[in-house]
Amino acid sequence: MPSMNIKTIAFCAALTGATAVFCSSAQAQGVVNALCSTDAPWCEAAAAEFTKATGIKVNQSHKGTGEIGAQLRAEAQNPKTDIWWGGTGDPFLQAAEQGLLQAYRPSYINDLHDWSQRQYDMSGNQVGGFYTSTIGFGYNTDVLKKKNLPEPKCWADVIKPEYKGEVEISHPASSGTAYTVIAGLVQQMGEDAAFDYLKKLHRNVSNYTRSGQAQAPNVAKGEVAIGITFAFNFEKWKEEKYPVKTAAPCEGTTYEIGGIALVKGARNEANAKKYYDWLMSPAGQALGATVGSYQTPANKRFKPDPRIPPMDGVKLISYDFAKYGKAAERKRLIDRWTREVESLPR
Ligand code: F6P
Repeated sequence: MPSMNIKTIAFCAALTGATAVFCSSAQAQGVVNALCSTDAPWCEAAAAEFTKATGIKVNQSHKGTGEIGAQLRAEAQNPKTDIWWGGTGDPFLQAAEQGLLQAYRPSYINDLHDWSQRQYDMSGNQVGGFYTSTIGFGYNTDVLKKKNLPEPKCWADVIKPEYKGEVEISHPASSGTAYTVIAGLVQQMGEDAAFDYLKKLHRNVSNYTRSGQAQAPNVAKGEVAIGITFAFNFEKWKEEKYPVKTAAPCEGTTYEIGGIALVKGARNEANAKKYYDWLMSPAGQALGATVGSYQTPANKRFKPDPRIPPMDGVKLISYDFAKYGKAAERKRLIDRWTREVESLPR
C-alpha cells in the first residue's frame, strides 16, 4: 500500500468538507478509465490533480463529444470506459437513450445550478450538467483589417459573400460544438430556413475541423479570420494579447450544457464515482479556469473565476435538449447536413 507522501498529507490537511473525503482514500489503489471531451488542458490537469489527491491512477483520452458517443456505442458489448466527462450535452443524452450510461444522482445535487439538475431530471439521472457556455463568433481583427472586412455581429453577416473562405467551424459528426450550432439554428430559424442558411455558410467555410476547440487557436494565430464556436474559447487568447475579439450573434444564439456520466458496465465503478464527485466538487470545477476553460461551472458552492464571461447579457434561444438530444433527431440532422450541405462545392 503506497504511504501518503508529505505533499499529499499537506494537500489533504488543507482541504475541508466533502473534498477531504478523497484524501482518506489517498491510500486507495486502482485505476479509473476516463474519456474527456472538454479542452485537453482541463482534461490533463484534472487527471493529474485527482491522482495527487487520491492515489487513483487515471487512464484518460481526449476526443470530440460526437466521437466519444460513437466510441461508447462501438464498445457497448465490452465497455472499456468507466466515466465520460466534459463536452456538449446532446451526445450524452443520446448515449443515455441508447442504454450506454448508468444512473447516478449525487448527494450534493442541491449544490448544482438548476440548469445542471434539469439534465439529471430529463435523463433519469444518467447525465449530469457539468458546465454551460454560449456559441459566438471569434475573429482576428488584424486579418479583417488587412482584408478590409467588417467585424461580424450577426448570423446574417457570416454568410455574406465577402467572407468566402474566411470562416471556420467544426464538423457536426465528430464535434458537439457544430451539432449545437446546427440544432440551435434549426430551433432559431426553422429547419428548412436553417438548412438554406447552412448552405450559404458552407460557401464561406475554409475547413470543417474535428473539434470545436480548434477555432480559437486558428483565429488567434491568423490562420482564419472568423471562428464559430463556444465564445469563451477565445478569452485566453485575448489575455495573451492576440488580436482577437468576440461577438454574440445579434439575432440570439445557442448554448451548451456540458455533460458528465458514468458508463454502464464500468469495471471501476467505485473509483469512477470518486472521480465524478471530485470533478463536480468546487476543487474540480474551479480547475477549468486555471487552464483557460471559462465555461460557467455547475457547482454553486464557490466563487467562479472573474474571467468567465457572463452569460446573462447574451440573447439565448430556449434549447430543447429533450428533442435534440434524441438519437434519431441528432442522426437525422447530421445526415441531412451531410447530404445537403457538406456535399456542395466550396
Ligand atoms: O473548448 C471546450 C469546449 O468548447 C467545451 O465547452 C465543449 O463542451 C467542448 O469543447 C466541445 O468539444 P467538441 O466540439 O470537440 O465536441
